[in-house]
Amino acid sequence: MIKEKANINWNELKFSYLKTDYRYISFWKDGKWDEGKLTEDNYIRINEGSTVIHYGQGAFEGLKAFTQKNGSIGIFRPDMNAKRLQNTAKRILMAEVPEDKFIKACKDVVAANYKYIPPYGYDASFYIRPYEIGVGENLGVRPAPEYLFSVFGVPVGPYFKGGFNPVNMVVADYDRAAPKGTGHVKVGGNYASSLLPHQIAAEQGFADCIYLDPKENRYIEEVGAANFYGITKNGEFVTPKSGSILPSITRLSIMELCEKVLKIPVFEKPIDINSLDQFSEVGACGTAAVISPIGSITYKDKVFKFYKDGKEVGPITKKLYELLLSIQRGESDIFKEWIYIVD
Ligand SMILES: Cc1ncc(COP(=O)(O)O)c(C=O)c1O
Repeated sequence: MIKEKANINWNELKFSYLKTDYRYISFWKDGKWDEGKLTEDNYIRINEGSTVIHYGQGAFEGLKAFTQKNGSIGIFRPDMNAKRLQNTAKRILMAEVPEDKFIKACKDVVAANYKYIPPYGYDASFYIRPYEIGVGENLGVRPAPEYLFSVFGVPVGPYFKGGFNPVNMVVADYDRAAPKGTGHVKVGGNYASSLLPHQIAAEQGFADCIYLDPKENRYIEEVGAANFYGITKNGEFVTPKSGSILPSITRLSIMELCEKVLKIPVFEKPIDINSLDQFSEVGACGTAAVISPIGSITYKDKVFKFYKDGKEVGPITKKLYELLLSIQRGESDIFKEWIYIVD
């Protein structure tokens, strides 16, 4: 491996696409996956009848690699993303990608794109985007005859403009997912339907929107691409319990950090939108969003403000952010098993 870095201003990175040198691609046909390979071609050629194009039979994942304090490169919890992609595949009848194939593909892409992995010490990381789509000759609404699994990666900076600072959000007037639909899995269609509410929120000057449950329009579900949490005035960590939100790996991780490291009680329960006054801090958490403090939430004609009038990051949010990043960057001795080192 040639150990040199690309000529990139790592401090200026945004969360946007950049062509890196190699991506992994593999096909499923006649009941089995092929070996898969790395390719330099960042375009895919698929049959015009592919189910992903017409019926949305496609799914994706998102995870990150970080340069560790000791100079090696580690991927954060790829086993969890592999399992989530399998769950998604089950829900929309796609062939499942074996966990070891998924992890090896991620490691191969990271190793092959070494020069694009942000060095240690920057507020940047290497975002890995695995995806699986139904391809092959087809016309009717049925599962595809063939599948494509691919992984690419891009160096990224903060998801929300301004980095680790409170952002303002608004409650969307649209539903994200139906109660027994596909909200709990990572299918592309969930995100297509979120584009309009997101655009409306952005036009009104908000960083993103928050969805309520589609049945009663009363309980918080999640943010467009992140889960929601709050810290009550009594110091408890509370996050929505719902069958139609994506089970965030970041959220799972910070729940463990609250319980085992900060010794903060953790509750998964419905959060009534009219009960936001109980929280001193609220935030969004996800691979891209990391932990993003939310300064205010606008709901109809009310504006709920959080820590220091929504202007500062609360102490628990800050602590969780620092803990999570220290683990991801290999600076910590706890939860080392969450990091998969790329050889
Ligand atoms: C809708 C939604 N919720 C939550 C998350 C956060 O999940 P994770 O922490 O696994 O990235 C994501 C991002 O993957 C998402 O798209």
